[in-house]
Amino acid sequence: MSLDSVLWAQTEDYTNWSNWDGSYFFPQQASDNAAAVDGTFDLIFWVSVFFFVLIVVPMVVFIVKYRRRPGYSPKPAQDHNLVLELGWSVIPTLILVLFFVKGVWGYMDMRTPPDEASEYEIQAQASQFSWKFTYPNGTVSPKLVLPINTPVRFRLQSSDVIHSFFIPAFRLKHDVVPGRFGTAWVNPTRVGTYRLYCAEFCGDGHSLMRRDVEVVDKTWEEVMDEIKWKYEEHDAWGNGQHLYILNCAGCHSVDGSTKTGPSFLDAWGTQRETYSGSVLFDENYARESILDPNAKVRTPFPRPSAMPTFQGKLTEDEINYLIEFLKDPAR
Ligand code: CUA
Repeated sequence: MSLDSVLWAQTEDYTNWSNWDGSYFFPQQASDNAAAVDGTFDLIFWVSVFFFVLIVVPMVVFIVKYRRRPGYSPKPAQDHNLVLELGWSVIPTLILVLFFVKGVWGYMDMRTPPDEASEYEIQAQASQFSWKFTYPNGTVSPKLVLPINTPVRFRLQSSDVIHSFFIPAFRLKHDVVPGRFGTAWVNPTRVGTYRLYCAEFCGDGHSLMRRDVEVVDKTWEEVMDEIKWKYEEHDAWGNGQHLYILNCAGCHSVDGSTKTGPSFLDAWGTQRETYSGSVLFDENYARESILDPNAKVRTPFPRPSAMPTFQGKLTEDEINYLIEFLKDPAR
């Protein structure tokens, strides 16, 4: 299967749980760090279950067995037992040290990319409310495509507020803080489609900040070769759709549903109500709203607009492609 066919379309069916099969707690493991994370979780969980049963079962038995009854009088309790007291202090301490050591080990592995990973770096940029991935070949894509068994490094960047880069199948989560770069890495070990979520509440469209992550049975070079978007290879509408998915789809639907902003379905060429009166949705209104979202805000959406300006982020050519797409988004 060529990457091109799957690359630009987002899987909108997020109710498909097929990637979660076979596990009660976690989705299937798709990276080599996942085993360490699950191992630490399982250790803590089962030790907790063991002590819970050990304490609660005798407690219930004693409550029933030694309840107040006629003919029995309470006997004074023992007030000191050195062996018992040392036991319940030292044993839990050793167990906690074990948790800590196992946790630190796993954490260091997760935080330290292997040397090869510096050759395979993808830039992940978060903004309200979308993710963009910039590959070393210059392609910007809404989709994360990773070669199997290749340690890839992510440079994380936010253009507005705090987001969080979260791929459950990789057990990978890292906050994306504006004004500084974050680093994360993964070595995918299983072919499939996984989910990327934003795991830090970042505004109205927070739950819409999700992307597909595709792990493919190809080399890094093959992925770089296939994952290319050149404007000259597509028509203006196609380029516009690409730019729409990258920049607008988080807030504006093309199916008539209302997200953070109004839908683009059948909007072109119609009169739209704004706080500044009725406006024709045409090239000039589209361009003005992209560059200065607060110029004419649609009612009843909140003012000032939640939309960031794309001044300096989109070129004039790109705005023209977007306009071609907006004319007939359902084509
Ligand atoms: Cu971005 Cu929540």
